[in-house]
Order: sequence, then structure tokens, then C-alpha cells
Amino acid sequence: MRVILIGFMGAGKTTVGKKLSESLGLCFVDLDERIENETKKKIKDIFAEDGEESFRKIETENLRKVLESQDDFVLSTGGGIVTREENKLLLSHEKNIIYLKAALDTLFLRLKEDENRPLLQAEDRREKMRELFEKRKEKYEAFAGFSIETDGKSISTIVEQCSSFIFSPDRKE
Ligand code: S3P
Repeated sequence: MRVILIGFMGAGKTTVGKKLSESLGLCFVDLDERIENETKKKIKDIFAEDGEESFRKIETENLRKVLESQDDFVLSTGGGIVTREENKLLLSHEKNIIYLKAALDTLFLRLKEDENRPLLQAEDRREKMRELFEKRKEKYEAFAGFSIETDGKSISTIVEQCSSFIFSPDRKE
């Protein structure tokens, strides 16, 4: 079984992904971590030295490799995975794509001091996040088979809701 988590930066994809993989007995793959291992560079250095477009190509190639494997896993993707149509095509055969949804205010509180996300190193971080969020929010819904509102919920509740979706008998195939 494969489960793919999508959502904006700070939505909790990595934290939830790890816990979910433990509870399902699956291995956990973090796409950003895989990219850093493959390129032997930090994400922020890829952005700084090679630019966003270059990062996006690497991200798509890594997504392709993970999905082409026959493996079972829980995969946490980067928040920008929805920015490329090619990624949507790659993900179109996956049944368990879950969008971890959070309000912009929640995301901002979590990320206001973050120094590792290159796209947020803007003068007005809140405005930058709002712009990205507006551009992407419908895409998250379009990529995913299921959305979970995460605001105010504990990690274990979110993990349970992911499992309920995955094992729900009447979800669309
Ligand atoms: C990005 C999100 C990041 C990382 C990169 C770009 C984005 O991942 O892939 O900094 O465009 O939203 P997280 O969503 O895990 O922070």
C-alpha cells in the first residue's frame, strides 16, 4: 500500500507521515530528504545556487523514481509538488493521496521564524505565504482524493483520520 501526503509548508506532512508509516507498518519516504541525499545539497542551497526551476525538475525526477518503484510507503511531498502538471500526471494512478489542510494563520504561526524554506525568506513573509497559498489551495484539493482539516487536532487524531480514509470501503477507487 502507498500513501502520499500533500499540503502547504508547515502543514505537518513529515510529522504525520512518520507516525502514519509506523502505524501502518510501512516505510517512510520524505521527498525533500531524498532530494538532499541524492544531490548532497540542502534544499535552500539548491534554490540559492541553481534556482527554483532547477529544484522543481529535481523534485519531479525524485517523485518519478519513488513512484516507479514497486515499493509500499508513506510519502511526504514538498508543498510545491502541486505546482507542476507533470507531477499531477505522475500521481494520477495513486489511490491514497491525502491533503493535510491547515488555515493560513496556523501555518504562519508555525513558520514565522523558519529559515529553511527559501520561498519564505521574503520581506513580508505573511503576504508571501498568502500569495502562494491562494495560488495553490485549489490545486491541493484537485490532486488529493481526500482532505483532512488539521487545525486544532492532535497528530494521533490526524493519523487516525488518514487510516479511516485509506480503509474506508466506500471511497472512490
Ligand atoms: C516548498 C516546500 C518545501 C520544500 C521547498 C519548496 C514549496 O517542503 O520542498 O522549500 O514550494 O512549498 P515542505 O512543504 O516540506 O516545507
